[in-house]
Amino acid sequence: MEISELNTKINSCILCALSKGRKNAVPGEGKVPADLMILGEAPGKFEDIAGRPFIGMSGKFLTKYLEKAGIRREEVFITNAVKCRPPNNRKPKTEEIEACRPYLISQISIVKPKLILALGVSASSSLGMSFSHLSEIRGRITDISIGDRNVKVYVTFHPSFPMRFPKAREGFLDDLVKVKDFIMR
Ligand code: URA
Repeated sequence: MEISELNTKINSCILCALSKGRKNAVPGEGKVPADLMILGEAPGKFEDIAGRPFIGMSGKFLTKYLEKAGIRREEVFITNAVKCRPPNNRKPKTEEIEACRPYLISQISIVKPKLILALGVSASSSLGMSFSHLSEIRGRITDISIGDRNVKVYVTFHPSFPMRFPKAREGFLDDLVKVKDFIMR
């Protein structure tokens, strides 16, 4: 399947209740294929309006930190665990993540990333990783299998965390630099 065909499917998806409240689905965007796939949680208000991922405040913060680490947005594919905005920006429910997972699996097989950078709890859960606290899986590469592929995943914070808590910014940047080093290899 081509990415454009998958995007068309996502844009008309009614597999979960989030589809009822959306202005636009947000399939994701970027390079195809790409060495790096960045996986967030869910679209927010601005993403829902524009149909594009990570363009609001946490998106601007993410883009700035990616640049600090030497990663350009145009070089990567960026998407979310769920493609439609949850009401009032609540966290996506497990069943919403499950309903959306087939799209993520298809994106991974089309984009063929060397590494997936998972931002926070929802992104990591959507990849089937289990943990009781993000610190158990953050800051290193983990091999996972999803769909019919084996992929490497690097987990870090969702950017909204270092955006709100400046003390977490150094660790966030260190993680992005490690990701950059890995994809350059
Ligand atoms: N937060 C996310 O996780 N994804 C977006 O696209 C925007 C904000």
